[in-house]
Amino acid sequence: MKMFCIGNWKMNPTTAKEAFRLGENIAEKASSCPQVITVLCPPFPFLAHLSSLSFALGGQDCFLEQKGAYTGEVSPLMLKDQGCKYVILGHSERGESDEVVQKKIRAAVRSGLTPVICIGEEKPSSPKFLHKRLHSRLQDIPATVLLKSLLVYEPVWAISTTKGGKPATQEAVALAISAFRDFLVKEAGERVGFAIPILYGGSVDKKNINIFLKAGAQGVLVGGASLKSKEFTALIAEMELHAQTV
Ligand code: 13P
Repeated sequence: MKMFCIGNWKMNPTTAKEAFRLGENIAEKASSCPQVITVLCPPFPFLAHLSSLSFALGGQDCFLEQKGAYTGEVSPLMLKDQGCKYVILGHSERGESDEVVQKKIRAAVRSGLTPVICIGEEKPSSPKFLHKRLHSRLQDIPATVLLKSLLVYEPVWAISTTKGGKPATQEAVALAISAFRDFLVKEAGERVGFAIPILYGGSVDKKNINIFLKAGAQGVLVGGASLKSKEFTALIAEMELHAQTV
């Protein structure tokens, strides 16, 4: 089973030179771990600088239309043109409505990108609450579009930059992943429901990654640790080992 190791650089680093150096340090490990699909999502201005390196590229967001008079926005077609295969959508730090995220998901798939859809919760909750969140975020998204997407369970309460944030336990993550899976199977049937990768995205580092893999995550969306090449390549290596055992 292929695993996904996705680095979200957020608004870092500040120069193309630093971005390229970091990318180069990650690329070597990425190319020696064939079971892991390594994806880096740098800020838009650095995409072209990284497109020659051996990992997949993703945007951190895209607009909900493909072109037009939308000052400051970046179209999914532009991301595709810059070599992106993926785009993160609905990240909690952007505070977007479900309706906007749904339009972005459709625009991304129409443009040939794989949406990495974030669905989270502000505080530890229950499978019932997660079903509600999934329902409102994915409402009216057809199974054909879901089949081209990755889902990320993003507990905002576990993200490193959340005030008072605390790491999630294996039990909590396992419960959330199984709530995601139940929802997908119920909504889209077994074939689609079991085919969609469910990732974990809250403060992953080399000390805790195994907890999330053991909980059943088919990959991770990493913030802070993806800006340290040693830490991020250690995550890729751990995932490669894990992929060989499942
Ligand atoms: P951290 O890994 O820095 O907690 O960030 C998680 C996240 O927001 C991934 O997109």
